[in-house]
Amino acid sequence: MTAVIELEDVEKVYQMGETEVRALRGSDLEIEEGEFIAVMGPSGSGKSTLMNMMGALDVPTNGLVEVADRDLSEMGPDELALLRNKKVGFIFQEFNLLKNMNTIQNVMLPLTIQEVPRSERRSRASELLEKVGLGDRLEHMPSELSGGQRQRVSIARALANNPEIVLADEPTGNLDTETGAKIMDLLTEFNNEGKTIIMVTHDPNDAEYADRTIKIKDGVTHPGEEDE
Ligand SMILES: Nc1ncnc2c1ncn2[C@@H]1O[C@H](COP(=O)(O)OP(=O)(O)OP(=O)(O)O)[C@@H](O)[C@H]1O
Ligand SMILES: [Mg+2]
Repeated sequence: MTAVIELEDVEKVYQMGETEVRALRGSDLEIEEGEFIAVMGPSGSGKSTLMNMMGALDVPTNGLVEVADRDLSEMGPDELALLRNKKVGFIFQEFNLLKNMNTIQNVMLPLTIQEVPRSERRSRASELLEKVGLGDRLEHMPSELSGGQRQRVSIARALANNPEIVLADEPTGNLDTETGAKIMDLLTEFNNEGKTIIMVTHDPNDAEYADRTIKIKDGVTHPGEEDE
């Protein structure tokens, strides 16, 4: 097996005026291709920070991050953009939908960046929206959707470019149990297709879907062990 994501002694320090916030304190992690990982830890423990490092959305203060055998610190902005657009699908904790675009346009966006033909973009986006239970909300603007529905749009968008790695920051955090279970099934389906899934969750039931749980506390990660 090959590691698709590797962290070596990764530290992240946020400078807030005079004070330093040590969000990650020397993380060592290896994630194999095709693994389904849960990341669990208290609020403020560094989970989103860790996800941002793995998705090349932020840079560590110290240490090494490798994605698909590439050292991120040696990649230029264009290469990093390509990695974020093609290899990684990011489900954000705060959704990050574009408010001037309707549901289907938001999901089509990553495909637009990749220059996929328009008709294909539409059919792929609506198929995914169907899967997350939003087939009847294609023309709604984000402001016309509930929190859970916005969450589902962001999930469909993250999956649109058929990424090898899905980084999901509390994908079921705003959902009722039934919709949450649907999303977990969708992530499992993706994982069965060979994709690597890394999911932050507070819910032990959701963590059950994963092969392994990485625990994090006060910026210190514990890699966990593979389930039987
Ligand atoms: N941009 C930032 N600037 C300064 N401090 C930050 C920044 N982002 C996060 N932090 C701090 O870093 C620590 C880790 O934050 P992070 O968002 O990674 O936590 P989390 O585990 O995702 O929490 P939650 O479960 O509440 O989402 C927190 O103490 C937070 O206040
Ligand atoms: Mg977070």
